Amino acid sequence: MEFYLNADSFFPRCQPSGLTFDDLSLATRYSEVLPRDTNLAVSLSEQLSLQIPVISSDMDTVTEAKMAIQMALNGGLGLIHYNMTDDAQVKEVARVKNHIHGFIQEPIKASPTQRISEVLDLIEKRGFRFSTFPVVDDDGRLLGLLSGSVVRERYRDRLVSEAMTPRTALFTLPESEIRERPIETADHFFTEHMGIHKLLVVDESDRLRGLFTLSDIERIGEESRRMVKPARDAKLRLVCGAAISPHRRADGSLDRDRIVSHVGRLLDEGIDAIAVSTAHGFSKGVGDAVRLLREAFPALTIIAGNVTCGDGVEFLAAAGANCIKIGQGPGSICTTRVVAGVGIPQMTALYVASRAAARAGVKTIADGGLTKSGDMVKALTLADAVICGGLLAGCNEAPGRIIEIGGKLYKQYRGMGSREAMKEGSAARYGHERKDATTKAAPEGIEALKEAAGPLDDVLRELIGGVQAGMGYLGARDLPQLRANALFVRVTPAGQRESAPHDVLTVTTSKEASSASERA
Ligand code: XMP
Repeated sequence: MEFYLNADSFFPRCQPSGLTFDDLSLATRYSEVLPRDTNLAVSLSEQLSLQIPVISSDMDTVTEAKMAIQMALNGGLGLIHYNMTDDAQVKEVARVKNHIHGFIQEPIKASPTQRISEVLDLIEKRGFRFSTFPVVDDDGRLLGLLSGSVVRERYRDRLVSEAMTPRTALFTLPESEIRERPIETADHFFTEHMGIHKLLVVDESDRLRGLFTLSDIERIGEESRRMVKPARDAKLRLVCGAAISPHRRADGSLDRDRIVSHVGRLLDEGIDAIAVSTAHGFSKGVGDAVRLLREAFPALTIIAGNVTCGDGVEFLAAAGANCIKIGQGPGSICTTRVVAGVGIPQMTALYVASRAAARAGVKTIADGGLTKSGDMVKALTLADAVICGGLLAGCNEAPGRIIEIGGKLYKQYRGMGSREAMKEGSAARYGHERKDATTKAAPEGIEALKEAAGPLDDVLRELIGGVQAGMGYLGARDLPQLRANALFVRVTPAGQRESAPHDVLTVTTSKEASSASERA
């Protein structure tokens, strides 16, 4: 008989202890599967399928349009956070749904009356890595192109209007011509126009609508050879999700009109999933909000949470959720367990939730506490997908500026239950009134920094590579096989020490050092 145990034998034997990722390890299985041949696709509802089971967290230091676009391009899903106005959230979603890969819809522009010195200051201040800017008038009409070759210190006192290449000398395409096959059209254009690196797109009134750059188009060509498949909806648009807060009226009842009207607008933009994100999903308010959405929008993919018990999963499933978020207190910036003394170590929570989810016919999403690809493999032996906050918060695509401290580069990362985030709107997620965020409410999250991690593509490539390696070890061609093949063993503190590099001096290779400085 096999010594290592499957989930249904292993977890009940550990009762009443709660286990998290490092408390256990997976046994290898006979395998004919090479990591590169694994299939990571997952379907979260009838309408929503992803190419990789990874979702970026609905946090204000993790997911806005830029992150959601890049997540979907890599086959995953971004959940736009709700610490912004309803209007702003609709705009963020529209940006993702209208995104054409390689087409910069809102290029940074210069004005003809600016001096070159102002443009240089802008580049320095915002850390731009490019120095060519379209020049437009107050109505957005194209006047010229300020080429990188004139954006130099020696010309700092010159006006943009003197330095720019004039409109008459520019190559442009009308918006109507790129609509059908944007990338192919741009690719063809660059082949035909040797030496031209920027293609400007204008509308019928000659207003700038966006631009293609040669380097982006070439990168897309390379990516398609790398076989990264974007996650798209039935109309081939990138997928996008958004979190909402169950808004309440002054008397404490759900503000049904506001919720339904906002979600209706998000659906008009093509939203693929709505997450009702709270710290305590097994609660009347969250159940009512999910039921309201299910009644108003029968075909909507609803993600709801967070819960850590079987009854909580069944409660949200009965209310109409398709996917349940599992996790209370495992997050890297969470203090729920410290502050409230509440929460369940994540692997035990996932086991309990996954069994209830199978009975209720819903999906589970492991939310929080993932610090390495091995944790993702372990989570995916029980859950259908994972949500990452801290693993992605250092990426270029996460909101927020890069900060330099002592020669190292960081990005801000904060819990949605931290005092600062609650002041900006997320208090409801933790059952508080926004006005109480600075006084009565005990914060359940901290403000922190993450080391800058570079482009999301690189970070995801490593994480997904790790998941594929895990699947190879378990002889799993796809995620259902990973769940079926998983056998567990308990790891002691000595085993945990053995599991990570030990008894060596770690060195940074020159290649690692140089790629770290490139990322900067
Ligand atoms: P990671 O570990 O990926 O966790 O950084 C991200 C997840 O943590 C949750 N979250 C919080 N939990 N207090 C909490 O107890 C907070 O302030 C907080 N902010 C986020 C959330 O589920 C997220 O996806």
